[in-house]
Amino acid sequence: MSVAKKEYKRVTVKSLIEMKQSGEKISMLTSYDYSMAKIVDAANVDVILVGDSASNVIAGHETTLPITLDQMIYHASSVVRAAKRALVVVDIPFGSYQSDSKEALRSAIRIMKESGAHAIKVEGGTEIKESVSRILQAGIPVMGHLGLTPQSIYKFGTYTVRAKEEEEAEKLKSDAKLLEELGCFGIVLEKIPAKLAQEVAESVSIPVIGIGAGNGVDGQVLVVHDLLGMTHEFHPRFLRRYMNLYDDMSEAISQYVDDVKSRDFPNDDESY
Ligand code: KIV
Repeated sequence: MSVAKKEYKRVTVKSLIEMKQSGEKISMLTSYDYSMAKIVDAANVDVILVGDSASNVIAGHETTLPITLDQMIYHASSVVRAAKRALVVVDIPFGSYQSDSKEALRSAIRIMKESGAHAIKVEGGTEIKESVSRILQAGIPVMGHLGLTPQSIYKFGTYTVRAKEEEEAEKLKSDAKLLEELGCFGIVLEKIPAKLAQEVAESVSIPVIGIGAGNGVDGQVLVVHDLLGMTHEFHPRFLRRYMNLYDDMSEAISQYVDDVKSRDFPNDDESY
């Protein structure tokens, strides 16, 4: 049964604002390749995020820092080919927008032009306001990302909950207002107290999508490999696993190895 209030043939940034206004929660999930994005899109996920978490999940790096702009464009173009309904948002990777706003714009343009994506996402608030403005002026929709911003992991030191203290919470609230004023179409809030996230969501007119930010926001985002239980060593409190694919896949692949070794595969029906 669908719980959507309105059918969208193609989700746009305007549709997301409409969803917030009508109280319809927004679903967002990552994808990094064609096959997964096809399934995610067909399941009516509203927004597909080509996250720089590809650096962890796909490439096996410890952080999101090593992934390059070229690699993000490769992932994004594969996802765009699969997405018929969802809005495709792409993370601008670390090192391709921080030095100055012209570089930020060049990176955003490359993503839009070479992948065909619909929007980009950046991490940070006031520190990157010139870049955000310049990208928006070029007509590129921008989504912000506040709270635990993984590209700053070496500044934070750990992946624990952010903005528990008053000073950081106040900065987060003013950064969210700033991103709204600059013209961003949405904000991701990662790993912050649910009460603070709800306060932010109620204080801005643009959709606020949470990951580890409670249920008082306008939508939720997860890494698809986490939701499917493929990353079985990762189990933060905010994660709801809908499958245990790691075990199911391991079992299937072990069975295949056994079948090859025992000469059971291929049988006559599987041969020409
Ligand atoms: O890169 C990513 O997957 C993200 C989500 C965790 C929001 O930014």
